[in-house]
Amino acid sequence: MNKGFIFDLDGVIVDTAKYHYVAWKKIANDLDFDFTLAQNELLKGVSRLKSLDILLNIGGITKSDSERNMLATQKNELYLELIEKLDFNDLLPGSKIFIENAKDQAIKIALGSASKNAAYILKKLGIAHLFDARIDGTMVSNAKPDPEVFTKAAKLLDLNPTNCLVFEDAQAGIDAAKNAGMKCIGIGDKQVLHRANLVVTGLDKITVPQALEILKK
Ligand code: BG6
Ligand code: MG
Repeated sequence: MNKGFIFDLDGVIVDTAKYHYVAWKKIANDLDFDFTLAQNELLKGVSRLKSLDILLNIGGITKSDSERNMLATQKNELYLELIEKLDFNDLLPGSKIFIENAKDQAIKIALGSASKNAAYILKKLGIAHLFDARIDGTMVSNAKPDPEVFTKAAKLLDLNPTNCLVFEDAQAGIDAAKNAGMKCIGIGDKQVLHRANLVVTGLDKITVPQALEILKK
């Protein structure tokens, strides 16, 4: 039976979560409020505009649509400056080899990311060729926890959702996987990602056979 692994990008394959945080914190500080690492968990996996709305809500600030668009653009410009020098050194430990091992076992590989910068980042990392399919923030209308990103990725891989396993570092992403009827491996902290079927601290801490066991359960 054909199987697929669908990977989130930021915080699973590449260490960009810290740059998203720095950029959002600058936006918050410019608006005169603080933004903590704990609050940043709420933004992980969430689209740019939805992230901005959560941030503004934390600061108790209301903005018009045009101001919101300007702030989102500003955040992205900051973020793009921060990732300008991104390269294969920013790959999270074990991520590339895990994907290569899965490919060797004929598992189909897809990206399921909320980021509109995903194609650019994959190219910078030199790993775009490893993916059989890519769904990113430019291709979906509904942000995680909506299942759209993973459902579309499974369709592109021509697989039933039950044969797909998602790798996610965000609560919203784990919920999106569940909503798509897929099993999910959380990458990060067990306390935060408790809704995942299994949580590991990184792709260097799990083998492809161990991941396939989760898919079977
Ligand atoms: C997700 C990140 O992968 O992409 C979020 O976890 C981010 O933090 C979202 O907001 C959208 O990213 P971008 O690159 O389109 O602003
Ligand atoms: Mg992520």
